Amino acid sequence: MNIVIVVHSLTGNTYYVARKMKEKLAENGHSVTIERIEAEGNADKAEMNPNKLHLTSLPEVSSYDLIIIGGPVRGFSISPVVAAFLANTKSLQGKKIICMVTQFFPFPWLGGNRAIRQMKSICKSKGGAIVGTGIVNWNRSKRENKIIELVESLSKVV
Ligand SMILES: Cc1cc2nc3c(=O)[nH]c(=O)nc-3n(C[C@H](O)[C@H](O)[C@H](O)COP(=O)(O)O)c2cc1C
Repeated sequence: MNIVIVVHSLTGNTYYVARKMKEKLAENGHSVTIERIEAEGNADKAEMNPNKLHLTSLPEVSSYDLIIIGGPVRGFSISPVVAAFLANTKSLQGKKIICMVTQFFPFPWLGGNRAIRQMKSICKSKGGAIVGTGIVNWNRSKRENKIIELVESLSKVV
């Protein structure tokens, strides 16, 4: 399968998980590309309104079968950079989608669940079919094991 991992990552956490996913999926014989979404200047750090962000890269995803979209939780919500990417992506019709977030707090109910709900809802509204989701709680014991488990379980839905 032709897969793209579209990722927003300011401090590298989500990018780290994206790289682990790429490794696993490539091992399983898939063609995998990672595309980073970035915003201009310092806006990325603090701006919560996606409409006020200017993206410096807008990955083109129309040629892929499956799109993994990942980003950090921001203020108990979807990353505004991910939201801006999705707002600028016309259609996800016919695409399989996996939504993934990393968050600092140790429990998904401290922002992760809500961010995933928001991502799923936007992707569905653009015609995407959600086939999997994942949350990595960065400030949690055995994080590395949990990342391995998540990557393993998501690789099975691909
Ligand atoms: C402005 C801002 C808001 C954040 N809000 C949350 C939050 O609501 N819940 C949470 O668990 N972590 C929150 N975080 C922490 C990030 O989600 C977490 O550190 C994430 O793993 C960073 O991913 P990255 O390194 O890929 O950017 C926030 C971070 C920033 C900078």
